[in-house]
Order: sequence, then C-alpha cells, then structure tokens
Amino acid sequence: MFQEVVRQSRSSSDRFSSRASETIHKFINVWFWALFLYLKPAGKAVMLTQNKKNCDLYYPSSQIIVTKGVKEYRRTIPRYVLPTDVVLEIGFAWGTTTALLAKAAKRVIGIDKGESYYTAIRTYPTLELYKIDGFDIQSVMRFGLQFDVVYIDISGCRELHTVLKIIRMYENVFKPRLIVVKSSRLKRLVSQCEVVGG
Ligand SMILES: C[S@@+](CC[C@H](N)C(=O)[O-])C[C@H]1O[C@@H](n2cnc3c(N)ncnc32)[C@H](O)[C@@H]1O
Repeated sequence: MFQEVVRQSRSSSDRFSSRASETIHKFINVWFWALFLYLKPAGKAVMLTQNKKNCDLYYPSSQIIVTKGVKEYRRTIPRYVLPTDVVLEIGFAWGTTTALLAKAAKRVIGIDKGESYYTAIRTYPTLELYKIDGFDIQSVMRFGLQFDVVYIDISGCRELHTVLKIIRMYENVFKPRLIVVKSSRLKRLVSQCEVVGG
C-alpha cells in the first residue's frame, strides 16, 4: 500500500516536472528567437557590408588640391594643368577661371546651374559653357569625355558634406588625375589632419 502511494506520488511529480520542463523549454525557445530576430535586422547587416565595400570603392585615386579663395584656386592652373588635359569646371559663374583654363588646356567644359550662365555665354561666346547642375552627373556623362582634371567651385563656403559628395561623385565616375576644389571648410579640415601609418 505504502509502495503504491509512493509510486503514484512519484508518477504525478514526474508528470509535473515534465510539464514544467516543457514550459521552460518553450519559454527559452521563444526568447531565443525574439533575441535572434532583434539582433539580426537585415538593414544592419547590409549596412555593414556596404560600408566595407564603400571603403574599397571610394578609396581616393585622384590627387586632390584644396584651395581657399579664388586667387589660390586660379594660381593652380599654370602649376597643375597640362596642355594635353581635358578639363571640367563645375561652377564657372562669370566664366573667368574657365577662360584661364581654356588657355592652358586642350579642351575645357564649364557647367553652372546659376543665372550667371547667360552673362558668361555673352562674355565668352567661344567657351563651352552649359547650364547644368553639377550633381546631375548623367548630363555630364553625356559629353562622352574623359576628364583629366576637374575644377570644383560651387561656392567657397559651401557646407562640407556637399563638397565631399561632389568630389566623391566625380572621382568615382571620371577618375580624373586631379581634382582642384575651392572650399574654405575643406581646407580648414585638411590642415587640421595628420595621417598616421601608411
Ligand atoms: C563662387 S562662384 C564660382 C566662381 C568661378 N569658379 C570663378 O572662378 O570665377 C560659385 C558658382 O557655383 C555655382 N553652383 C553652385 N552649386 C552648383 C551646382 N550644384 N552645380 C553647378 N553649379 C553650382 C553657382 O551658381 C555659382 O555661379
């Protein structure tokens, strides 16, 4: 009799412990998947891969000359532009720098999105000047030219991220030998920098 009671109590305690372990198991299972899904949102994973790719893709290959002020910007022409160069100037305004570039290089294209375009084409009717936004790279590609040098002057005090964006864009698409940019903010940043390592 005593043995029967013990056996029954054991089997009911077994059943209880097996139900408890089943519940704990389910609980852990649910939390495991919840944690897994939380830690693995697709966006995060893709961003990491893209960032890694971007590091390789956008590694600079062009020489970049950073200038502050229009005099400094124009002074680079005799020093860096070769008579064989095909040059693009982004932001020609009245066309003064484009005209200087045209004397030094084989061919020069100037683009500007502003209204000064109309004055510039009257002042310099022989220059190749176009009313195009520099960020409209598709239109620039339609020239079918390989630019050796790109001059960028979309206003010397333009915010840094816009200047970097346009540099990166032209570097990736045209891979010019040289990019000359007029940007006081970029010049300040570059003069604060020191490269460590290779
Ligand atoms: C400081 S002026 C250029 C002066 C000219 N480079 C020179 O040396 O005489 C800046 C010019 O950039 C033009 N600009 C600004 N953003 C532009 C963009 N996204 N694409 C094309 N031109 C732009 C403006 O219309 C303006 O004419």
